[in-house]
Parts: sequence; structure tokens; C-alpha cells
Amino acid sequence: MSDTFDFSSLVVDIPDYPEPGVVFKDITPLFADPKGFHALVSDIAEHFQGAGITKVVGPEARGFMTGAPVAYELGAGFIPVRKPGKLPRKTRSIGYELEYGTDSLEIHADAVCSNDRVLIVDDLIATGGTAAATGKLIQDLGAQLVGYACILELAFLNPREALAQAGNQELYSLI
Ligand code: PRP
Ligand code: ADE
Repeated sequence: MSDTFDFSSLVVDIPDYPEPGVVFKDITPLFADPKGFHALVSDIAEHFQGAGITKVVGPEARGFMTGAPVAYELGAGFIPVRKPGKLPRKTRSIGYELEYGTDSLEIHADAVCSNDRVLIVDDLIATGGTAAATGKLIQDLGAQLVGYACILELAFLNPREALAQAGNQELYSLI
């Protein structure tokens, strides 16, 4: 966890969105703040500097916002993991559960290979369903999963248990 920037001051709680009982964590003010945006990207990138990351994988859509600049900072490639039907070539897909619903994710079948050292980056990890499913996709394709990073980890939903099922890789969270 970072102690250099107060990330949580720029995350807004929205009660009962998108459904009753869920407190939605709105990270758009953090991305809109030039210092906050810079700090979150450099903090995650610094943590994984030296880990030999060749590809950052980000789940649609907030994982694109968070993962792509981290990949740029690390000098790695960026791979999108998308909701169904959005990728034009041969894909691998996997079903998963969200805090509020279920869905499936797809990755291009040739997006990573056995030489790749992969970091999965998203804005937020809640149940861990999205991250764990993405981790399984990466491992199914034969690449090395180095770890996960996010801005916000909702620890009360026990995401580390879900991630453990996809292997015991590190999870680094800023909040
Ligand atoms: C959100 C968030 C993570 C996921 C976390 O994405 O950006 O990807 O939920 O939840 P989990 O840990 O319970 O799986 P969402 O599917 O809402 O899509 P979006 O980024 O397109 O808004
Ligand atoms: N994705 C899953 N749970 C979420 C939450 N509570 N806030 C924002 N994004 C989410």
C-alpha cells in the first residue's frame, strides 16, 4: 500500500449503485486529478519494476484506463481482456461472477505466450472474480502470471481467496 499520496481522498462512495446494498467506488475523480493519476500509475509501475513484466493485461473497461499507462511506464505491452463479442480474432473465454452479476471475458488466443511475464491490472478488485478469471485465461494460454495490481481492494469481500484459486501470485493494492 502507498503512503505517499492520499488516493482514498479522490475516490467517492456512491451508496446503492448500481443496485441496492452495493457501495460503488467511483475512481473517476482520481483519474481526473493530474497528480493523482500520475501517482497511481507510477506507484504500481515502481512496485513491479525489475519483475521482468513483458505484458500488462487489463480487463474492460476500467482495467484499460489503469493498465495501459502502467504498461507504458514499465516498457511492457498492453493486452485487453474484453466483454464477449468485442475481439475480432480467435479468442479464449471464461465465465465469472461479479459483486453484482455474472459475465464472461475474452482474450485473443495469441495475445500472450510462454515467454511472457504477465501483470494483471484493474482499477478495483471486489470479489476477485474478474481478476481470478483473467488469471486463469493467462495461465491457460501458457504465460507466466507474476501478479495482480489494483487501485482499490475491497478486502471485506475476500478477493484473495478467489485469487488463491488461480494460484498464489501477489496482489498489490494502493487502497
Ligand atoms: C468492475 C471493476 C473490476 C470488477 C471487479 O468492472 O472494474 O473489473 O468490476 O469486481 P470483482 O472483483 O467482483 O470481479 P465491471 O465489470 O463493472 O466493468 P467496467 O470496468 O466496464 O465498469
Ligand atoms: N466493481 C465491483 N464492485 C464494485 C464497487 N463496489 N465499486 C466499483 N466498482 C465495482
